[in-house]
Amino acid sequence: SQRTLVLLKPDAVRRGLMGEIIGRLEAKAGWTITALELRTLDRATLEQHYAEHEGRPFYAPLLEFMTSGPSAVMVVEGERVIEGVRALAGPTDPIQAAPGSIRGDFGTIVRENLIHASDSAESAEREMKIFFPRGA
Ligand code: GTP
Ligand code: MG
Repeated sequence: SQRTLVLLKPDAVRRGLMGEIIGRLEAKAGWTITALELRTLDRATLEQHYAEHEGRPFYAPLLEFMTSGPSAVMVVEGERVIEGVRALAGPTDPIQAAPGSIRGDFGTIVRENLIHASDSAESAEREMKIFFPRGA
């Protein structure tokens, strides 16, 4: 089976949506949360995580938002969990996300789109090392 790095972003935590979102992940057959920590992310960590977006117009406000309060940092393990969490989340822009998806049900703003999930096996390995450097 696979592992993926999931962040419930500061908007999700502030709005009290952790339980709702974690419930949807836990409800999927065979998926398990194997690490879970509430943590206010620092710039250095986020600069590594979002290195691919450095220089984009949304980069500075994204880091500002992501450091604005605690996130829930998680590792989820299970069958096809990388593709699966991305599907539960929906597209980056919540207005384009279908009802029934996390972003489609709860989001309106592109930056404040509630959840991050690794987009490939390579990203998952890279991101788990960034957020859980001593192992997860
Ligand atoms: P993550 O799961 O957080 O990585 O989202 P994603 O893979 O759906 O999107 P991507 O990696 O392309 O962008 C990372 C994050 O930057 C997004 O989740 C948004 O919060 C933000 N973002 C991406 N594109 C835009 C944009 O065009 N405008 C704004 N304001 N924010 C953006
Ligand atoms: Mg991404």
